Amino acid sequence: MIILSVESSCDETAVAVTENGRKVLSDLVFSQADMHAVYGGVVPEIASRSHVEVISRLAEEAVREAGIEKKDIDAVAVSYAPGLIGALLVGVSFAKAAALALGVPLIPVHHIRGHIAANYIAFPELEPPFLSLAISGGNTLLVDVRDYTDMRVLGATRDDAAGECFDKAARVLGLPYPGGKPLDELSQTGDDKKYKLPRAAVAGHPYDMSFSGLKTAVVNLAHNAEQKGEELDKASLAASFCAAVSDTLLPRTMGALRELGYDQLAIAGGVAANSRIRRDFERAAQEAGAKLYMPPLKLCGDNAAMIGCQAYYEYLAGNVAGSDLNASATMDLC
Ligand code: KG4
Repeated sequence: MIILSVESSCDETAVAVTENGRKVLSDLVFSQADMHAVYGGVVPEIASRSHVEVISRLAEEAVREAGIEKKDIDAVAVSYAPGLIGALLVGVSFAKAAALALGVPLIPVHHIRGHIAANYIAFPELEPPFLSLAISGGNTLLVDVRDYTDMRVLGATRDDAAGECFDKAARVLGLPYPGGKPLDELSQTGDDKKYKLPRAAVAGHPYDMSFSGLKTAVVNLAHNAEQKGEELDKASLAASFCAAVSDTLLPRTMGALRELGYDQLAIAGGVAANSRIRRDFERAAQEAGAKLYMPPLKLCGDNAAMIGCQAYYEYLAGNVAGSDLNASATMDLC
């Protein structure tokens, strides 16, 4: 089954062609990051306009690169929630029109289900059940993936997503948007114990997380240093910050893995590209005797191949939409 898939939930316009879920025939991503960098974050209106400008051409190119004809497409899939509503609407409108014009089914895909599915592309042997930690710019979720379309959220952030926290911390360190990667690079030469940063817990909810206190702590530290004219050791603050995020994610994930009795753990989302997090999880999984799946960096960020992959399983489960499909800025995973 050949699926043309679309992703436009934030600041990446992406179109892919996949075959039977896991085989990627083409995977194109147009990043708008440069357009938003000057503002220090994503400007929703600019994101929507840019999606409109490039989505049709990107789709033509994805079909050409896949070496197929439009008539070979069996279904069109789209990331329809959660995300920036204007940005999502561009992808949803395009996908609806494409499905109608081609006379094929339309498959709606939850964006985070797509991120989790990036692991199926990278690791053909991976099958549910497994535990997934989805850490992106807008979401931080611990998910029991019981089956391809049967999931249960065990824990989530109560406030900021891990990626959002990375981006804000990077901003006060004077790094460009999106700040996760440059902060990761800066942290390489720092001392991760130099700055004492909080690791918050949510009383009575062992798998829930909170990152807003950590974000505020970094902002306050930087501002205090500036006001006192003290030199900030930015590399060490970045390293201490990465350690604090990892220390928040790791024990909850490993605790959930133990409780579920699973021996497979799959990390997903843009923040899964973080080198400290990857290192810590590798060590912990090895100690626990669990198999750890971490997609390559290209599949961690937003892309449409992951949407096409999950769409295949959604289709098999009978999850198709009509032309009344709407985008939604928020939506539970299950
Ligand atoms: O999954 P993604 O591309 O988009 C969403 O669905 O949100 O994630 C983007 C997030 C941004 O916050 C970005 O700063 C963060 O992933 N990120 C990283 C790294 N690379 C990207 N965070 C920490 N370390 C990285 N190496």
